[in-house]
Amino acid sequence: MTDNNRIVVLFSGNGSTLQSILDQQSKYQYQTVAAITNRPDAFGLQRAEKADIEALALDHKQFQDRSSFDQALIEQIDQYNPALVVLAGYMRILSSGFVSHYQGRLINIHPSLLPKHKGLNTYQSALSAGDEKHGASVHFVTEELDSGAVILQASTVIKETDTAESLEERVKVMEQKVYPEAIDWIVSGRITQNGQTILLDQQPLDSQGVQISEQHLED
Ligand code: GAR
Repeated sequence: MTDNNRIVVLFSGNGSTLQSILDQQSKYQYQTVAAITNRPDAFGLQRAEKADIEALALDHKQFQDRSSFDQALIEQIDQYNPALVVLAGYMRILSSGFVSHYQGRLINIHPSLLPKHKGLNTYQSALSAGDEKHGASVHFVTEELDSGAVILQASTVIKETDTAESLEERVKVMEQKVYPEAIDWIVSGRITQNGQTILLDQQPLDSQGVQISEQHLED
């Protein structure tokens, strides 16, 4: 266990991922100290206020460019001295200055089995590609979009009857189970990094991280 278990969550919209992190906190070792959005109208703000944690909106439209916004965001985040910064549906590209400031302590959850389907509309992309499986990846953030080392992946088998909406619904349920656990692994010191290799409990993981199936999550 490390002595700093504080996390700050960044989000842009509904905040259901944030909610899952808050709801499961009591069974894990991390402590959510603040949630920050770049969109003042994001519903997630209400969730954070209700949970009685610091809830802040920093409107990116009020800044001249990406780097000045990201610098202001860094100043806000660092007030809370977090061990880990958690992206939870934070839908803004990050500047290289921001990413390098939090190197090794910035993670994201992306709704695809990376390296497949980076970017947006991943559910439709997986269906159009005829993939057998779809899912979500928890990964460290690097400058290249959706490309950092993967810590874990949760996957579901695509059904013939699936639509982008039905797939999204299933993947979100899995995301909300695995993300809090992955956060806990990092904050409690179980995840370490050696160059490009990620280790869980000193055991090196392969490039797709710990593999978790939907069935396993239901058990
Ligand atoms: C989540 O499903 C997350 O995987 C996705 O945004 C959603 C946020 O939902 N993130 C990305 O696409 C990042 N590339 P929420 O606002 O209800 O938490």
